[in-house]
Amino acid sequence: MTNENYPYEIKVVEMEVEGTAHKFPVIVRVGPKGYVFPENFKHAAADIYNMEIRSSDVFVDSFPRSGTTWTQDMVWLIVSDLDYERALNIPLTERYAFLEFFSNFDNEIKNKLFDANKDDEAKLKQMELIFKPATEILETTPSPRFIKTHLPLSLMPRKALEAKIVYVARDPRDAIVSLYHLINSMRFMNLDVDFKSFWKTVLNNSQPWTPYFDNVKEAWEKRDHPNMLFLFYEDMRKDLPSVVRRVSDFFGKKYNDEEIARLCDHLSFDNFKKNSSVNYDLMKELGLMYADKDFIRKGKTGGWRDYFDEEMTAEADKWIEENLRDTDLRFPSMQ
Ligand code: A3P
Repeated sequence: MTNENYPYEIKVVEMEVEGTAHKFPVIVRVGPKGYVFPENFKHAAADIYNMEIRSSDVFVDSFPRSGTTWTQDMVWLIVSDLDYERALNIPLTERYAFLEFFSNFDNEIKNKLFDANKDDEAKLKQMELIFKPATEILETTPSPRFIKTHLPLSLMPRKALEAKIVYVARDPRDAIVSLYHLINSMRFMNLDVDFKSFWKTVLNNSQPWTPYFDNVKEAWEKRDHPNMLFLFYEDMRKDLPSVVRRVSDFFGKKYNDEEIARLCDHLSFDNFKKNSSVNYDLMKELGLMYADKDFIRKGKTGGWRDYFDEEMTAEADKWIEENLRDTDLRFPSMQ
């Protein structure tokens, strides 16, 4: 499939779903790297790519489960002069538009969700927000607009670097374990396979948003661009105050030690987990997520070791080595 307003080929691919680690019966592979998305992405790709950019726009970008939510709240507060009142009262999902999220849902899921929530006006409003193309929402959003995405740079709005982008990367082994848990927390997505089978489908680049390394490397290549800030989850875990200072500098904001300490406390794992503005409990209320699962889950580095057997560890070593060969990208957890 080609589109005159879009520079990449979008290939539609049928997947075998029963008994496999694939959730989507049809996916698309986009561009020369073959980035994977649910089929509906084909309707959104060109609108996203050609979206109008304002220089005040703020993007937070990542491969899923790399600490996006954590980074989003940190960035929002830093840009918004530490306005805790609004941060605690306006859900992150309203403070940020999630660029490609709506294309994750096919009509069957949408109808089920509307049906389950049809008697609750507030929930119906939330769902409309989720299912509406973010590009439409953003047209009327006042500046500065905050935008979340998991798209690699090449598929983001082509002028995105005229605005500011904060990219966060995480050791892929931890991100993939976390992604497996997230998919199994979602009512319409859960996989009936073990982690090992899921891991294989990440290795062969058939899960949405893969290939993982291309996503990260595209951002890494632009890390010295004045409008790009590249962060690691592991650095946030190790020394959050210094990351907060880097983010503040990037946005031209000055905060004193006391203000930074308060922000780090607000962003601490324990406070974050119970903060209903960021913990996605809304997804449970809408029936998208199982009540006994948590979006803010463990918040550790190196937890992957409990999931990878010897064979998988060797596969991961090889995968990482091959993918880091042509770049100076190095993860703090692999030094
Ligand atoms: P785990 O599943 O390993 O716990 P994303 O927001 O990109 O989906 O990333 C989610 C991951 O970030 C989850 O990882 C989540 O627990 C972790 N996370 C979220 N908030 C955090 C915080 N304040 N401190 C540390 N980790 C956090």
